[in-house]
Amino acid sequence: MDAKTFIDEQIADLKQSVGEGLAINALSGGVDSSVVTVLGHRALGERLKTVFIENGLMRQGEPQRVVKTFAEMGIPVQLIDAKKEFLGALRGLTDPEEKRNAITRTFYATVFGKLVRETGAKHLLHGTILTDIEETVAGIKRQHNILSQIGIDPEKEFGYQVLEPLKTLRKDGVREVAKALGLPPEITQRIPFPGPALATRIVGEVTEERLATVRAATAIVEEELGNTGAFQYLAVLLNDRATGIVNGKREFGQIIVVRCIQSLDARTATPVELPWEVLKRICERVTAIPDVNRCLYDLTPKPPATIEYI
Ligand code: XMP
Repeated sequence: MDAKTFIDEQIADLKQSVGEGLAINALSGGVDSSVVTVLGHRALGERLKTVFIENGLMRQGEPQRVVKTFAEMGIPVQLIDAKKEFLGALRGLTDPEEKRNAITRTFYATVFGKLVRETGAKHLLHGTILTDIEETVAGIKRQHNILSQIGIDPEKEFGYQVLEPLKTLRKDGVREVAKALGLPPEITQRIPFPGPALATRIVGEVTEERLATVRAATAIVEEELGNTGAFQYLAVLLNDRATGIVNGKREFGQIIVVRCIQSLDARTATPVELPWEVLKRICERVTAIPDVNRCLYDLTPKPPATIEYI
């Protein structure tokens, strides 16, 4: 793939598909949705409305950081607070597929449906990539951002058409395009982060309290492993508890799993052999989070494991 040719073709395609109408897209700040945002704005200018949906499942400080980065590139991004909708839809759910389904429906039907009606947009630009499609079609996982590939007609169900300019690329291709578009390194070199966000890293029910725990652990892991050059590193909150001793007292506390993997395109992955010192420091910091008394390092490659936990 030649990145410059790809960019020209996608801009022309977007212009043609959207015509004189309005389009909307949701930016998460990841490289996929960032590339779509820039392609879309180059193709459609002010006829593309870009929103950042604050779903309550994001990492520390993420919504504000993303809005600021794009403002600096001259692209206005509107922050939409939809925390209540998402947390409400997730309440009481523990099954991974039901959780993903709740996030999909809240995102596309509830929150986006409303925005689309308000703006009159007929097209939604989405950052789906080839790996998302392949894994969904193969039945490995129901990615949150796949609709037509799994037989949902968004026009019929939600009243808009989805355009997926990156659907022929894998992650490495998207990064090449991002560089060619002149996106800053904090975006082109950003580690992948899933659409359903921290919900993919909470086994069991997603609550505000449990989100706060995994969010704190994520911040520590990202800080400690940011210089490893690994493909992805993350923290997961398990649904089990374990006995520990805190301030001389027995406590039935929470368990955090740390994952750090090397991968080319997320289809397969191998765990990184982190130095013992680094692992020990992460363990110390993570177990200082209130109510957490165990920290485990996951050695499982993909397959048999996936990268995320739900
Ligand atoms: P898994 O867990 O399936 O993840 O091995 C493979 C890669 O995809 C990311 N991932 C997602 N990305 N929506 C996304 O946009 C999702 O629903 C989703 N689930 C997983 C994951 O972080 C990894 O890089």
